[in-house]
Amino acid sequence: MDDGDPGLQQMLVAARAARQHAHAPYSGYAVGAALRDEQGRVHAGCNVENAAYPQGLCAEAAALGALVAAGGKRVVAALVIGPAGRVPTPCGGCRQKLREFGAGDLPVLCGDDDAVRQRYTLAELLPASFGPEHLAARQASHDPPSRRSE
Ligand code: THU
Repeated sequence: MDDGDPGLQQMLVAARAARQHAHAPYSGYAVGAALRDEQGRVHAGCNVENAAYPQGLCAEAAALGALVAAGGKRVVAALVIGPAGRVPTPCGGCRQKLREFGAGDLPVLCGDDDAVRQRYTLAELLPASFGPEHLAARQASHDPPSRRSE
């Protein structure tokens, strides 16, 4: 995926539009996220802060909710954007939330309104992670969890 990639452009447009609606009166740090699902659809979200600070929602979490509500099952690409020069990376909690729906090789792209500035995989951001396969009921108890998604 490069910046000339129409798929990435679609994600940037969606994340930018969502970021414009961010509710971030406390931090002043507006974030937009766009997630591509296994059907190729893009779902966006923005951060939604709250006067009771811990109740605030990250943009990635909002986008994940949109993806799941639309019937999406997997995340195949993620983009998070914030203010130029202060590019966000997903917080720890959102890395784990993405892990639920994304493999270790999930591209997590970080940028601003204009471009992607940093590229990671989910495994780089969340090494040795815990995921759904650790709870797989049919997996033999002596069978170590697959390292596939690390
Ligand atoms: N935030 C996100 O929405 N996503 C990130 O990746 C980093 C941080 C939000 C949470 C809070 O509303 C604001 O940015 C400042 O932390």
